[in-house]
Amino acid sequence: KEIVFDYSKTAGFISEEEMKNMKSTVMGAKDVLTAKSGAGNDYLGWIDLPVDYDKEEFARIKKAAEKIQGDSDVLLVIGIGGSYLGARAAIEFLSHSFYNVLPKGKRKTPEIYFVGNSISSKYIHDLQDVLEGKDFSINIISKSGTTTEPAIAFRVFKEMLIGKYGKEEANKRIYATTDKAKGALKNLANEEGYESFVVPDDVGGRFSVLTAVGLLPIAVSGADIDALMTGAADARKVALETEYEKNPALLYAAVRNILLRKGKQVEIVANYEPSLHYVSEWWKQLFGESEGKDQRGIFPAAVDLTTDLHSMGQFIQDGARIMFETVLNVEESPAEIVLQREDVDTDGMNYLAGKTVDFVNKSAMNGTILAHTDGSVPNLMVKIPAQDAYSLGQLFYFFEFACGVSGYILGVNPFNQPGVESYKKNMFALLGKPGYEEAREALLKRL
Ligand code: PA5
Repeated sequence: KEIVFDYSKTAGFISEEEMKNMKSTVMGAKDVLTAKSGAGNDYLGWIDLPVDYDKEEFARIKKAAEKIQGDSDVLLVIGIGGSYLGARAAIEFLSHSFYNVLPKGKRKTPEIYFVGNSISSKYIHDLQDVLEGKDFSINIISKSGTTTEPAIAFRVFKEMLIGKYGKEEANKRIYATTDKAKGALKNLANEEGYESFVVPDDVGGRFSVLTAVGLLPIAVSGADIDALMTGAADARKVALETEYEKNPALLYAAVRNILLRKGKQVEIVANYEPSLHYVSEWWKQLFGESEGKDQRGIFPAAVDLTTDLHSMGQFIQDGARIMFETVLNVEESPAEIVLQREDVDTDGMNYLAGKTVDFVNKSAMNGTILAHTDGSVPNLMVKIPAQDAYSLGQLFYFFEFACGVSGYILGVNPFNQPGVESYKKNMFALLGKPGYEEAREALLKRL
């Protein structure tokens, strides 16, 4: 089944006339994207990735995953931003909610921990405790090979790995996903003989989930990466070939830009499944880094519902009217729990006896959508047919394509991220990195 984009609840905010009027702009943006004639066109490798990927490497990813599954209790995945969020989104969406703490036997694949996505000593230290007595491997992921957060974590855990196994065996337990030819990590991988996987030159970090960046950790978790790619390939066909009026990615790009022009500057992605939390985080990076530049963009926010209805719900319903909401709706829950009748109805819940928990969840969702719509929050919905790899592959591609089109409609280069450099320059200067001496003096005076 296909992903469906439903904007019927925006009827009071957007007319069909406006959608029609937007068509030429959207189709123009799509043409610029697919003709590769726009800004950032060096980074469009993701468009054809689901059908045009390195099959030899794909097979090697599966083999490496099998090896890790066979010789490791734990896989450490070291990376940040685009070298982190896709894998985590997929693993959390596709695996057991308590994957890492399932008793042996119930989970046949290694525990998976993510590190190098912050600079927290406590987090690193606590993870070292988790590794005690366990066999582990490392997948270090960095396109540039020079990013500080993962480089720090890699130093620490590489040392631990060498301490445990000796250098020769440790090198066989390190898998490097990086540039095909250049960068500090590639050089190290060559020197030490780590098995390497490639982040293609023409695929930016936030568009890289369907490369080895995402695929190796996802495969280690036992998820079906073939189905993931098939889902993405099918969504690609829909995105490229379907007419505007029925094309989910194009309609989504149209609606969000119309709403932005009406003053809706914040988009809140809302999920009703905790396992979608990191899909929302991945989506935030995708749209935030792609569109938030040149003093423009829609601010991407996310809530986990119904959890956050008890915190952020007040603001969404009744605060400043600056947002629209995009609900991620997993149509079919993989688990069924039926509520039972109790003899004494002390908690007043007997009226739900015989109903499933998912029915309650969907009722909460539908009630909330209408309440938010009544509160002037236009509501969009992305219907995800099932909680499986095929649907997730579609979802990834749907958002990536919509993002490229939407960014061009906005008039920015959706494929660069000049803004992420500023903090790095200051940090390097304050750390005393050679070459930053002058900046260091100036910054220290300001602190
Ligand atoms: O999208 C991006 O470019 C960033 O989020 C990067 O992915 C992130 O900074 C990590 O970079 P690298 O893979 O070079 O370590």
